[in-house]
Amino acid sequence: MTAHLKVPELGVVPPEMDAWVIRKERFGDPLTSFKRESMATPEPGPGEVLVLVMAAGVNYNGIWAGLGKPVSILDVTKKDFHIGGSDASGIVWKLGEGVTRWKVGDEVVLHCNVTCGQCGACNGFDPMACEDQKIWGYETPYGSFAQFTVVQAQQLLKKPKALSWEVAASYGLVYFTAYRMLVDRARVRPGEVVLIWGASGGLGIFACQITKLLGATSIGIVSSPDKAALAKSFGCDHTLNRNDFPGLAFQPNETDEQAKARAAATKKMGKAIWELLGEKKGPDVVFEHVGQESFPTSVFLANRMSRIVICGATSGFNLTFDVRHLWMRQKSIIGSHFANAEECHRANELVHQGKIKPVLTATYSYDDIAEAHDVMYKNKHMGTLACLVNAPREGLTNLEETRAALAG
Ligand SMILES: NC(=O)c1ccc[n+]([C@@H]2O[C@H](COP(=O)([O-])OP(=O)(O)OC[C@H]3O[C@@H](n4cnc5c(N)ncnc54)[C@H](OP(=O)(O)O)[C@@H]3O)[C@@H](O)[C@H]2O)c1
Repeated sequence: MTAHLKVPELGVVPPEMDAWVIRKERFGDPLTSFKRESMATPEPGPGEVLVLVMAAGVNYNGIWAGLGKPVSILDVTKKDFHIGGSDASGIVWKLGEGVTRWKVGDEVVLHCNVTCGQCGACNGFDPMACEDQKIWGYETPYGSFAQFTVVQAQQLLKKPKALSWEVAASYGLVYFTAYRMLVDRARVRPGEVVLIWGASGGLGIFACQITKLLGATSIGIVSSPDKAALAKSFGCDHTLNRNDFPGLAFQPNETDEQAKARAAATKKMGKAIWELLGEKKGPDVVFEHVGQESFPTSVFLANRMSRIVICGATSGFNLTFDVRHLWMRQKSIIGSHFANAEECHRANELVHQGKIKPVLTATYSYDDIAEAHDVMYKNKHMGTLACLVNAPREGLTNLEETRAALAG
């Protein structure tokens, strides 16, 4: 265990900061790709804010960034370094020119949508349609795994006061993504059935809660009894263990035998869903992010006129499925990506109101940021993971308490 990071006086910006940095020459698994370095502290430009990071959330995009796959993010940012991290809680430390809605000392959580703020999409339509839309901490170089980060002022959200830094840092990316997928893209209606892949994972655990809040029924797919219990404790109505359906996962270049076994496993899962629902009905909405291995099952199982909403592809992004099931039964595939600022504010308000609960299952120290990513990479986790950055221990909720803990 190394010493705690040093927190300067409010508003004082040191020229150098500590950061976990990814570089091209060490692309690979998280334990290889993430390394600590001293970096120049970034300067907030017009409309931007420098934030002292108290805690940072762990997301799958840090793994993609470190792997250098499916794209090298350094080729996108045109930098020779990348500081990952698309979730954070912290304190506004310095304002860039023109920022008036926030002040130094404000306690915030950050959403990760970066846009130009000037085009038609940003001003009246949907900033997610902005041609310059990017994910902060993935497609931008200064994410949250560092003492300071620089963000657009529109990325700031009020931190729920009662939440510790680490809990406040844990939910934004996955929760806001799940919110847009179900509320604004798939438009889930009361009484509908939502099939949720990875129901105990980062996205899935919030999908379970949102589905409940919308008055719909959820069926969560998980891979162990512990994961089923976690999903149920966050409002998932029914669960299925995917290990009870051997051969279900699509494999590229599958043999005829494998294809037959997959068809049988898919039908078996369909019947299990009928039994859970007590009627011969499939899901009205499928919450997809697994991709290649699950997508043909999702298309097959979904009801007539259903929606399959997808935001990711953990198991592979080339999707193969029998399109007859799609057109004959008039199903729709809906792409979805993170959320715009207005959706993030709406969703964050539900956390302030206690209607949606963050699901932090493990907190790692600043020293263990690579290790936390490795746990996620190996699918050994449930819920969400966060790492302390400037916060010296868990449970601290504001700057005063944090300073006292650092002094003590
Ligand atoms: N576009 C966006 O804005 C956006 C935002 C957030 C995340 N994503 C993407 O969405 C994906 C999931 O993110 P996350 O944070 O929820 O990850 P996560 O916490 O790792 O959860 C994913 C869950 O998927 C399940 N899973 C993994 N491999 C599977 C497979 N081969 N077949 C079936 N289920 C499988 C696992 O649950 P079980 O083992 O219990 O089944 C796991 O808990 C990632 O690829 C991420 O990059 C995209």
